[in-house]
Amino acid sequence: MTISYDVADGQRTNRAGEPQVLGPDAKKGDARLVGAKTAAAGGPALNAGDARAKPADGGKSARTGAGTGTGTGTGKAKAEKPEFHQRTTPPDLSKALENGVAAVRRNLLIVLMFSCVINVLVLSIPVYLFQISDRVLTSRSLDTLVMLTGVIVGAVLLQAAFDAIRRFILMRTAVELASQLGSPILAAAARASLNSNGKEYQILNDLQQLRGFLVSGTMMAFLDGPFAPLFLVAIYLIHPHLGMIVGGTCLILLVIAVINQKITSRHFSDANQNQSKANLHLDAMSRNSQIINALAMIPEAVHLWGRDTAASLRAQVSAQDRNIVSASITKAVRLLTQVAMLGWGSFLAIQGELTGGMVIAASIIGGRALSPIEGAIEGWNQYLLSRNSYGRISTLLKSSPLNSERLVLPKPQGRLDVERLLYVPQGTKRVVLNSITFSLKAGDSLAIIGNSGAGKTTLGKMLVGSILPTSGAVRLDLMDLRNWNQRQLGENIGYLPQDVQLFPGTIKQNIGRMREDASDEQIYEAACLADVHAMISELAHGYETVVAADGAPLSGGQKQRIALARAFFGNPRFVVLDEPNSNLDTNGDEALARAMAHAKAEGITVVAITQKPSLLKCVDRILVLADGSISMFGFRNEVLELLADRKKQRAVQQQG
Ligand SMILES: Nc1ncnc2c1ncn2[C@@H]1O[C@H](COP(=O)(O)OP(=O)(O)O)[C@@H](O)[C@H]1O
Ligand SMILES: [Mg+2]
Repeated sequence: MTISYDVADGQRTNRAGEPQVLGPDAKKGDARLVGAKTAAAGGPALNAGDARAKPADGGKSARTGAGTGTGTGTGKAKAEKPEFHQRTTPPDLSKALENGVAAVRRNLLIVLMFSCVINVLVLSIPVYLFQISDRVLTSRSLDTLVMLTGVIVGAVLLQAAFDAIRRFILMRTAVELASQLGSPILAAAARASLNSNGKEYQILNDLQQLRGFLVSGTMMAFLDGPFAPLFLVAIYLIHPHLGMIVGGTCLILLVIAVINQKITSRHFSDANQNQSKANLHLDAMSRNSQIINALAMIPEAVHLWGRDTAASLRAQVSAQDRNIVSASITKAVRLLTQVAMLGWGSFLAIQGELTGGMVIAASIIGGRALSPIEGAIEGWNQYLLSRNSYGRISTLLKSSPLNSERLVLPKPQGRLDVERLLYVPQGTKRVVLNSITFSLKAGDSLAIIGNSGAGKTTLGKMLVGSILPTSGAVRLDLMDLRNWNQRQLGENIGYLPQDVQLFPGTIKQNIGRMREDASDEQIYEAACLADVHAMISELAHGYETVVAADGAPLSGGQKQRIALARAFFGNPRFVVLDEPNSNLDTNGDEALARAMAHAKAEGITVVAITQKPSLLKCVDRILVLADGSISMFGFRNEVLELLADRKKQRAVQQQG
């Protein structure tokens, strides 16, 4: 059994050679070979440094090939031969679910077969007892005793071995399910969190629940349950009266189970809901640990968490109280059944209808018939939880937009068309953006200015597809962002968010967008493009400086500049920078201006959101946003003149 987590492969667009092998087993070696081959054969202009195409001799030629393709003016090389990303098999998440479920089914079937043998072997001890009391003790034959004992010892050992085997299989099934679905669930959750607050990430816990259930005692009870009728028939054959007693008990237990289910379900679901709320608080606490300490908010944070945890525990106690009562009644019923069987059996024995051995054997078999039912009742809640978990997993994977295949297009040139954007955030009636329409040619640069709260950040997010407009469309090279192949789009755009967050890892990894196939050359290129190489060189460990989750040891401005390099990584054609100079000093400002100039030379379309006038010198056009609508849009000088005129008018009005 191999355990590996990788789903992104399907999302990746393979830029060199043939379509990439999909799935967890996709061998890097293969892709590398393909890359080297194409490069050696002087194939069509490869895209800049795909690390998989880099090693050995193939690397150099691939790079130089790319240099002509993308370095010297995008225009000419592209006009001759557009660079196509290869179409890849889509990461079919619902397929992953199907595979996972099929694997579980298959294994459960095998386990069920083992269970069948085990349950037959279980009968060996009652049969032994029966034989001893009714044959051996009456005939006093030692030979028979020895032979019988030998057979029974064999049966018991076999039963133990089979039981171990089915547990091994179940455990592996659980692990296989977790490893098959882990990556698809995380990928789908990450995608789904685009339209929500990220609660989908909790679905990973559902997978844990499912995994736990597969190896639980309840699962064993479920597996043994189908054989209860076998035991019932055996008892019936010993004496119909005893069979009826056990049959009646089964019915009583089922009724108790249904009632138990009814009276506990609400409390259990309350408990779970509150538990998830408490988990959200915990999550927020861990993210804001510095603020919590600085502002001495620990008591409040603990109180918030404690309130939900207490509610969850209270609900659990009431649910478990009921559960315990049901379980006790069940147990009493089961013990009373044994008493009834022994009592009535003895009566029948006195009547001469049964032997003593038969009575005891029937009692043992009866216990065995009822125990899975009892187990199932006790674990019913766990079963329900797991069923709900499965429901959530299945909905997430089946409804994920990642399932739909998108045509992989040529590398975009960077033309941007924004059409009648309207944005009303979900669950609100506030119009944040209204009828925003403008266009940029490839290589244009635009500054978006406006008051705080005007909607600049929201517009920026929309331009890179990190939030979706309520209506209207953002098009890159004519294609709506929603219809781009997600991975291809991401590789070809850059984004510097307003509140920069770096991933825990080295600066190198952060600039390379955590991609394993990011080559040193690409990272250096991005750093140069963003003009941060000098700053990184001054750090003690340079590109290998390790950044913590909170950005330490970098300052706010340094973080912002690293994120700028990240935005320029991979030679994107369209970059959005949200207040890229908010934390920068004059040096940083100058570096940013140089970065804008580099971008201009490379023909990258840049949209910079800013509050500072210094950045306006570097752009071709300016868009003034006021209350979510465009109040001005045009060439830099025209807009600046208009703004200056307005200022003058206002000054005159105030004086007058
Ligand atoms: N998801 C949302 N729900 C409600 N209001 C929002 C949401 N996103 C943004 N807004 C509102 O939109 C306005 C613009 O926000 P933003 O784009 O961050 O402004 P800017 O970056 O121009 O300062 C703000 O008043 C903000 O409250
Ligand atoms: Mg903003």
